[in-house]
Amino acid sequence: MKLLLVFVLLLNYLQAEQVWLVKFPYKHNYLSRIEKIFPLIDLIEYDYYQSSYIFLIPRNYASNFTHFIHQSKGSYRIIVDNTKDLLKKSRQQSKRSIASDNPLDKTYYQRFLSYDEQQDWSRLLSNSSLTNKSIRLHTIGQTYENRSLTVIEIHSKSHPRYRKGRRRKNAVFIDGGMHAREWLSIGVANYVIVQFLKLKGKDPKVKKILHYFDVFILSMMNPDGYEYSRNENRLWRKNRAPTIVSDYWSIDASCFGVDLNRNFPFQWNNTFGASPFPCSHSFSGLKPLSENEVQSVVNFLRNKTYTRHQFYAYFNLHAYGRFWLLPWTYTTLERVKNYDDLLKRSNNVASTVLNGTYKVGQASSVLYSCSGTSIDFAATLMPHAMTLELSPMYRGLPLCYDGNLRKDQNCTIGFMSGPEEIEIDGIEVFNAIVEYLYSIIQDNFV
Ligand SMILES: *[C@@H]1O[C@H](CO)[C@@H](O)[C@H](O)[C@H]1NC(C)=O
Ligand SMILES: *[C@@H]1O[C@H](CO)[C@@H](O)[C@H](O)[C@H]1NC(C)=O
Ligand SMILES: *[C@@H]1O[C@H](CO)[C@@H](O)[C@H](O)[C@H]1NC(C)=O
Ligand SMILES: *[C@@H]1O[C@H](CO)[C@@H](O)[C@H](O)[C@H]1NC(C)=O
Ligand SMILES: *[C@@H]1O[C@H](CO)[C@@H](O)[C@H](O)[C@H]1NC(C)=O
Ligand SMILES: *[C@@H]1O[C@H](CO)[C@@H](O)[C@H](O)[C@H]1NC(C)=O
Ligand SMILES: *[C@@H]1O[C@H](CO)[C@@H](O)[C@H](O)[C@H]1NC(C)=O
Ligand SMILES: *[C@@H]1O[C@H](CO)[C@@H](O)[C@H](O)[C@H]1NC(C)=O
Ligand SMILES: [Zn+2]
Repeated sequence: MKLLLVFVLLLNYLQAEQVWLVKFPYKHNYLSRIEKIFPLIDLIEYDYYQSSYIFLIPRNYASNFTHFIHQSKGSYRIIVDNTKDLLKKSRQQSKRSIASDNPLDKTYYQRFLSYDEQQDWSRLLSNSSLTNKSIRLHTIGQTYENRSLTVIEIHSKSHPRYRKGRRRKNAVFIDGGMHAREWLSIGVANYVIVQFLKLKGKDPKVKKILHYFDVFILSMMNPDGYEYSRNENRLWRKNRAPTIVSDYWSIDASCFGVDLNRNFPFQWNNTFGASPFPCSHSFSGLKPLSENEVQSVVNFLRNKTYTRHQFYAYFNLHAYGRFWLLPWTYTTLERVKNYDDLLKRSNNVASTVLNGTYKVGQASSVLYSCSGTSIDFAATLMPHAMTLELSPMYRGLPLCYDGNLRKDQNCTIGFMSGPEEIEIDGIEVFNAIVEYLYSIIQDNFV
């Protein structure tokens, strides 16, 4: 028994990851060298102008990485000694409360629901007299661990012109939770559902949008990864499918899983932003479309089984950074055909609804290029596709990124945003989506 305990403790120790804040003395791109020497490192944030970076690193990198930092005359500080410690805080944040029988009640949207709670909530939405006339549920696939991918459809009566059959209604797709640790994107997707349902009979813009579009929302695109991030590793990003190097005895839990946002079947494995290493946080999979979640979404978008309508716009929610990102992601050298139109509309929403606090532009230029992403794939099917990176704010500790931070001050990283952030970001994002869709209707459909 004792031997087993020692073994389990050793395993825990070896699997642990740490979060480091690293500063280098010069403004110089250290990332490509770091990625080459330490392929399993995960860059969480960086500020090129301050030359500082936040990394998630496997513990067995610690001594070599320290060496590298010293050689580069940089300095570092360990922010999280063991990512397992982050679970305690998130358990408090997701505590269950008494469920209401009104699906629009705040007991649902003010919390980070577990997968089971999310499924219960979906069923309640489709079976409550308050909402069921406007809701349809679609199970578009199963994950590796056999969880259902449930899309919630919000619809209302078509515009008269559509009813006469002269034009077809179009469809909008919104997803959240593609990356397991980005809990806020799940909460905000749910909040968007609630707002559509609350305002569909009241707000003239929302009413009009639902005349022209049916809205399909998949709040939890990666439920296996999400449950893993709730119970095992708060900073988990990928799904939980086994890979070629992971097996039952595999000592390294991080060798499981594929980064879903590198697995889409367009320009797959075409830039270094997608990793060929199975133990990396951004492993692209062995081939495009290898993952159940990606297959299901691709089939859903392409195939008219679930919606008779053509998809027209896609909002892909991630957290965090306050970026509004347009395709292409895979290259900086080319632009989508209607790039100027996308940029104009996005800038307009960003400056009005978002008060200029989001950075707008082509994903590959504003952040970094990577291939096999969902918006790049979506841009081959429909005219409007974009990624919104939500807020990193956290009420409690300052963000480690804050330049005014004292040297020894405790700080936190953006993934840890609390449930109180859902509504604050939710209102902003809902209004942004409404303005964007409304602008499309005004210019193209009326
Ligand atoms: C650390 O560096 C040494 C010497 O270059 C190398 O042999 C070793 O594999 C490295 N360890 C890790 C975990 O990368
Ligand atoms: C749907 O609602 C009715 C009445 O509220 C209830 O009796 C029934 O069990 C519900 N069905 C499901 C599948 O939840
Ligand atoms: C909506 O829910 C109510 C109560 O559960 C039920 O009586 C009614 O038949 C449902 N309507 C539809 C269209 O599902
Ligand atoms: C998923 O369900 C299938 C069919 O019921 C079963 O064969 C398989 O073992 C399940 N997989 C997991 C990971 O539970
Ligand atoms: C992915 O791209 C790299 C670099 O071009 C290449 O070496 C590798 O074979 C590719 N992987 C697959 C599975 O095609
Ligand atoms: C469309 O989706 C349905 C349900 O997943 C599937 O049975 C069907 O084979 C798909 N059709 C095509 C052409 O992919
Ligand atoms: C908008 O931004 C300005 C300047 O950055 C700030 O003073 C103002 O309070 C912001 N308004 C809202 C509603 O966030
Ligand atoms: C940082 O947090 C640790 C653990 O909660 C605590 O012991 C320490 O005093 C804190 N340091 C500062 C500077 O607040
Ligand atoms: Zn993400």
